[in-house]
Amino acid sequence: MSETLANLLNETRQFPPSAELAANANVKEDAYAQGREDRLAFWETQARRLTWAKEWDQALDWSNPPFAKWFVGGQLNVAYNCLDRHVEEGRGSKVAINWVGEPGDTRCLTYADLHRLTCQAANTLASLGVRAGDRVAIYLPMIPEAVVAMLACARIGATHSVVFGGFSVDALASRIQDADAKVVITSDGGYRRGKPSALKPTVDEAVDRCPGVEHVLVVRRTGEDVAWRDDRDKWWHETVEQASTEHAAQPFDAEHPLYILYTSGTTGKPKGILHTSGGYLTQASWTFHAVFDHKPDTDVYWCTADIGWVTGHSYIVYGPLSNGATQVMYEGTPDTPHKGRFWEIVQEYGVSILYTAPTLIRTMMKWGDDIPAQYDLSSLRVLGSVGEPINPEAWMWYRQNIGRGETPVVDTWWQTETGAIMISPLPGVTATKPGSAMTPLPGIAADVVDDQGNSVPDGGGGYLVLREPWPSMLRTIWGDDQRFIETYWSRFQNMYFAGDGAKRDADGHIWLLGRVDDVMLVSGHNISTTEVESALVSHPKVAEAAVVGATDPTTGQAIVAFTILRGSVPEDEASGEALVKELRDHVAKTLGPIAKPRQIMVVPELPKTRSGKIMRRLLRDVAENRSMGDVTTLQDSTVMDLIAGGMQSAK
Ligand code: WT7
Repeated sequence: MSETLANLLNETRQFPPSAELAANANVKEDAYAQGREDRLAFWETQARRLTWAKEWDQALDWSNPPFAKWFVGGQLNVAYNCLDRHVEEGRGSKVAINWVGEPGDTRCLTYADLHRLTCQAANTLASLGVRAGDRVAIYLPMIPEAVVAMLACARIGATHSVVFGGFSVDALASRIQDADAKVVITSDGGYRRGKPSALKPTVDEAVDRCPGVEHVLVVRRTGEDVAWRDDRDKWWHETVEQASTEHAAQPFDAEHPLYILYTSGTTGKPKGILHTSGGYLTQASWTFHAVFDHKPDTDVYWCTADIGWVTGHSYIVYGPLSNGATQVMYEGTPDTPHKGRFWEIVQEYGVSILYTAPTLIRTMMKWGDDIPAQYDLSSLRVLGSVGEPINPEAWMWYRQNIGRGETPVVDTWWQTETGAIMISPLPGVTATKPGSAMTPLPGIAADVVDDQGNSVPDGGGGYLVLREPWPSMLRTIWGDDQRFIETYWSRFQNMYFAGDGAKRDADGHIWLLGRVDDVMLVSGHNISTTEVESALVSHPKVAEAAVVGATDPTTGQAIVAFTILRGSVPEDEASGEALVKELRDHVAKTLGPIAKPRQIMVVPELPKTRSGKIMRRLLRDVAENRSMGDVTTLQDSTVMDLIAGGMQSAK
């Protein structure tokens, strides 16, 4: 295994924090030693950043692994920690959410506003018969009511299950059924790509298959006509907005379920990842404070994720709000009505901390440097990335074109299952390397191990694992403890298996190499798709690349690459043989001849899931001339026709 995922790339650039940032950082170097010396004491200190109704008796109960209990005996209310305490401490008039609708409408909600609405929604849910422990499904666009709905559930101890608004009837119905939700909160629709996009019809169809659903609570956003069932459906503005604004938040056990969030993974039915209260909020809250170096009095934060993903849960709702942050929330797509929309928002609101995904950064690269250059981005001081390995060139582009070549870029590794950030630079401490998530956070025991579960030495590669439980870890897969054990705790003894390949460089820093299922075996060499993709993106003409291993009679697997060119490449050059040769040679030069792709396709788009991850499985189907497998989770199903069409003509 040491050779398997060995580092082929040679990235040597390094960017230390500015002296000013280092001096004023929320979290400094000594935190690592604290985490190492007494991990539990370290997390207890972070738990004390929250307000508890009753302090815990025991930091961690790990007597029945892999079932962890954190802050045993402690009690708190999660919504109280996100809202009431800020209001009680005199920060009620501080802006919590500066919301921007896609059509250009805006709303500004203070902590007092958010608190009042959440109390009203909590009262409404209670009047609809929702009790602590009941499940509520939330299927909403990116509007403030999505945040309110989540907090209202947390406030009354109901478990929310947010389903991404882009998911279909089948996906929604199966998630409602699996969680056995009693109430669904939705809207008539939302705005996407310049027009209203309906949600209620999807809910109506899904709920027909879910007899356990008693009520559907509907927010009016687009004003379009909706079908209505009088016995079941309630308008939000006729219930929540009329309800009492008084609601006393009752404390719940630290291990009280907070939410279920479904993650599809590569195979099988979606897994309902269960997160609980005290440990989850502790880590979501502290990591927001530490990794983004968030200063409540001056920073304006913006996370571009959707609330339907874990990033939205931890870094739009629970992390920022528990820290009393002011944030921007945006409803729509980055190119509506124009490709500068994001940068216009940064300029308008003075965003200082931006958290986004590599897929977006690469899209912006493709659109061209001249677009962000038209805006004043001088307010930005910390840039974050999450969701996939970020190619070194995309990292550099982000720092240069968005961060003026000055701001730290924090590449944050984590998962739905981990609940919060696990591996990341600290902006005031770490000298960052483009493309590396660098170092496990203080209090986190991440490691890279070989096939046998032994730590690999510096310079080696293998599997990413977590050796010790962490506060925001998933507690189980909803309704399926056995699958929880098999999926995460059976590959290695006493270790959590993340499913990602990783390498440790000569300095001991961690580089994520993508899902282990995506590693290619070429003539007996294991080559990571991520590294070949990064080599392609390091060519000035390439904006984005996806690489797969296709069965090959001579080499076992052969490398097939799909590339999207930067906007600046002229049309005639883009279609030429010469460019393909240039790119193949470039990969051979960067990584070595073994990594030279057999075939490179220039394509207009890549197949992505709705959360922006490349679906390599479909590209493998194309590369191996198979008919396409399940395309239902694709963001845009027409993409595959474009790619398959191009593939045929190239043969
Ligand atoms: C998988 C988890 C974490 C919130 C969004 C995704 C990949 C995530 C990074 C990163 C390399 C990353 C991993 C991981 N991933 N962040 N910074 N560098 N890979 O949550 O949908 O549960 O996906 O995303 O493969 O296992 P998710």
